[in-house]
Amino acid sequence: MSQNIFSKFKKYVKQILYKHITETLVEEFQDPVSAEVVYRVVDRKLPILRSLDTRRLEFTSGTKYAYSTIYLDKHRADQPIYLIVQDLTNSFFHRKSRMRSALVLGCAGCSIPRFLVMTYKRVQVTGVEYSEKMIEIAQKYFLNKPMEKRFTLLYDDAFAFVHKTTDKYDFIHVDVFVAEKNHPQTFTDDFMKALSNIMSENSIVILNCLNLTKNDCNNFALRFWDDFTAAYVVDERFHYYVVFAKASDPATLKGFETRVAKYARIDERYVH
Ligand SMILES: C[S@@+](CC[C@H](N)C(=O)[O-])C[C@H]1O[C@@H](n2cnc3c(N)ncnc32)[C@H](O)[C@@H]1O
Repeated sequence: MSQNIFSKFKKYVKQILYKHITETLVEEFQDPVSAEVVYRVVDRKLPILRSLDTRRLEFTSGTKYAYSTIYLDKHRADQPIYLIVQDLTNSFFHRKSRMRSALVLGCAGCSIPRFLVMTYKRVQVTGVEYSEKMIEIAQKYFLNKPMEKRFTLLYDDAFAFVHKTTDKYDFIHVDVFVAEKNHPQTFTDDFMKALSNIMSENSIVILNCLNLTKNDCNNFALRFWDDFTAAYVVDERFHYYVVFAKASDPATLKGFETRVAKYARIDERYVH
């Protein structure tokens, strides 16, 4: 009960502080790779709660708006976007030392790479980004000391990289879209087979399925689950993620599903 009152009070204080947020434009730019998009790096600071200050990389194209964002606090592991991706990852890698190698396809402000480096102390993270400008911006504003040793940002096309790499990954996040448009190559046989080939024995790949309906996601999961041990369609308030998993021990998947059920709905599950 008292905990309930305390969390309501915290929410109320946050709401008041958010009304007094200050936004500072750090840089505005365009990128030859997607000329129709206007990009802005913006700092958002609260009056007292410094730990909630963020830096955003905003994408605006016509009426479409999206952003990648990080907490400015250098020691904070959780990040302000893709909360479900962070929760799904922590649910699969319950034993944190098990994640050794991770791949993020599409990096922009590098929020997921940052979460991985800060949360998993033994992981080496590779990021692949096909925009030179985005890499320059990430290096200038979004990558700092804690990430230096365990994050490598590569300039390459994600769809070419997955065929070239000889490494195996425990975790892969597929996040290749710009200003709310899914990349058409994401849902192809060629790409999915390549992903399956570079996954380690106990691993997950999380695909951000922005713009896909629940039905599209189910069809997508069904079409490819044979190449994996399991496939899940996870619902985050009508924004869907498809997770493909490989696991040598069925207990790994059981533990994963039990933990996920505490915060999200698994709409469909296909398990071998
Ligand atoms: C939404 S952002 C990624 C956000 C990032 N995952 C994070 O953790 O903050 C999408 C990024 O994908 C990149 N991208 C789009 N197509 C790509 C491709 N074929 N190969 C590599 N990167 C790509 C875009 O330039 C953009 O920076």
